[in-house]
This record gives sequence, structure tokens and C-alpha cells, in this order.
Amino acid sequence: MRVPMIAGNWKMNTTVSEATELVNEMRQELDDIDNVDKLICPPFVSLAAVRELIKGSSIKLGAQNMYFEEKGAYTGEISPLMLAELCEFVIIGHSERRHYFNETGQIVNKKIQAALRVRLKPILCVGERLEEKEAGRTEEIVTEQIGSSLAGIDALNGLIIAYEPVWAIGTGKAATSEQANETIGLIRRNVAKLYSEDIAQEVRILYGGSVTAANATELMSQPEIDGALVGGASLKASQFLSIVKQTAEI
Ligand code: PGA
Repeated sequence: MRVPMIAGNWKMNTTVSEATELVNEMRQELDDIDNVDKLICPPFVSLAAVRELIKGSSIKLGAQNMYFEEKGAYTGEISPLMLAELCEFVIIGHSERRHYFNETGQIVNKKIQAALRVRLKPILCVGERLEEKEAGRTEEIVTEQIGSSLAGIDALNGLIIAYEPVWAIGTGKAATSEQANETIGLIRRNVAKLYSEDIAQEVRILYGGSVTAANATELMSQPEIDGALVGGASLKASQFLSIVKQTAEI
């Protein structure tokens, strides 16, 4: 049985004091919900403060990105080693990184290797753009992204995959539960081909893209969907709590 995960990707939102406030608003209630992994991914500068606030709770902590070198003259970058001391997870290859910061499949692959080397659990994001979906290329794009991201990686060691169709991110137009379930099933078959059927059955694959309290139950009820990567709705304590609670009740 795969334990579902609801992950909040706060993106470039919240100052340290706002992050503190948001955690304080939901910490107790979140902590009390069982049968779901609850993960929050605040900006780098809030990781240490949030880590203190959730100490002793069941809430997990992740970062949103990292560089692939461990240390050195890379002004402004954050390394896997720095993160490993602070958190357990790191989002890698989010479409905003791929599109605004030109992260290629090769960079994503290096980052995943670097994260696993220090026992950080990557959340690998994949997903097609609108024009690719309209051209019927979803399967091809997602298969290519999974293959290039995982090249040369022989053990997943807790890696999580998030299927995030680019056209659904921040648009209010979530994929239908059938679409999301189907593409996640396809991703799982890819993992089976690359690794084994057992590993494919173990790996958690989340859906992301306009998940809200209004569509959470419908999406999270799908057999292939193991949770959600939530952007906008993770910035409101009541919304995030509701998504986590709905998932726990399924
Ligand atoms: P959204 O973002 O929930 O605001 O659509 C999801 C994501 O980018 O992870």
C-alpha cells in the first residue's frame, strides 16, 4: 500500500514571518491527521525557521530546488549538502524551473543524482505543455522526461514523481481525474519498464496542477494517484488542511 502524500509547494511566496504565521495556523491540525504524509516546501530562507516550528510533529519538510554541485564557487546557489541538514525532500525539475530557468533533462538528471547521493528524496516533476497535449504528444513527452531524468539512476530510494501538466499549473484548470489517472498509470508503466513491476507499485506518483479543496476528493480517489503537489491552495491554511483531510478520508 502506498501512503498518499499531500505536498505544499509555496513557490516564491512568504517572507520568514509570513511562513511562520502560516505554519502556526495549521501545524496542530495537520499534525493530527493520520494516514497521509504531509509535506511543506517553503522558500529556502524559511527552511530553518519552519524546521524548528514543526519539530516533533508528523509534518515533513522539503525544498523547492537545489544545485547539483556539493560546494564551491557557485554564487547564490544552494547545495544538496546544505539541504540534507535541514529537510528530507527536494522538488526537482518543476516546470517553472524548466521553463523560466532553462533546466534541461540533463540538468534535472544531475540534480536527482546529487540529491540521492546525500539521501535527500527528490520529487521529480514531469508534464506536458498545452501545445504538446493538443498535438497528442502527452505520452511521448512524459515518457521522454521520465527516461532522461532517471538515466543512470539504479535505485529510487524514496524518490517521488509528480505529474504536473503545465497547462494545469496555476490556471484553475485541473486535469480531469480520468486524464490524471491515465497519465500517471502510463508513468507507472514507464517505471516498471525502467526498473521492475515491484518498484513501479511502490513509487508514489502525485498529481499537481490547480488542486483545490473543491476537486481534491475526486482526484485523490483515483487508483493511480498517490497524492498531490499543491501550489496556490497550499498558501491558505484552510484549503491545505481540507485537501489533506479529504485525502485521509479516502
Ligand atoms: P498550482 O501549482 O496548484 O498553483 O496549480 C502546482 C505546482 O506548480 O506545483
